[in-house]
Amino acid sequence: MGNVTFGMIKPDAVRKNYSGKILDMILNTGFKINGLKLIKLTTCQAKKFYEVHKERPFYNELVEYITSGPVIALALEKDNAVEDYRKLLGATDPLEAADGTIRKLYGESKAINAIHGSDSDDNAKIEISFMFSNLDLV
Ligand code: RTP
Ligand code: MG
Repeated sequence: MGNVTFGMIKPDAVRKNYSGKILDMILNTGFKINGLKLIKLTTCQAKKFYEVHKERPFYNELVEYITSGPVIALALEKDNAVEDYRKLLGATDPLEAADGTIRKLYGESKAINAIHGSDSDDNAKIEISFMFSNLDLV
């Protein structure tokens, strides 16, 4: 069980000014923010970040979506971080997400779903180092 995860408020949620409310939910769930930055990913960076999905039918759509505006990248710390954070996000499809979860409250559709969370401890480390240098992290 690791104690860090990577989160990203996606362009739709940033555009609709949900970032403050979402950060509040993350902090109120007990996460400590070790790194935070607003960044607009290039197509090349987005393709690399989502490389695991490159064979999926939604890959191009996903890359277009994630580069459509700035995102807020987050390095987060808490006991059982990956699992607890994904619980807070809710299911990928907001229609299937539990009440009170971020995607239920702020997601638009399965593709445009407000927020990202790492799916394993290994990927959390990979994604944090993809988005942050050591100097960016407390
Ligand atoms: P995430 O990686 O963003 O935290 O989401 P997740 O684990 O719940 O879902 P994943 O299967 O990893 O998919 C990554 C992102 O791709 C978009 N997606 N679109 N159109 C579709 O059927 C579809 N399926 C997935 C979503 O933005 C999803 O979060
Ligand atoms: Mg995923």
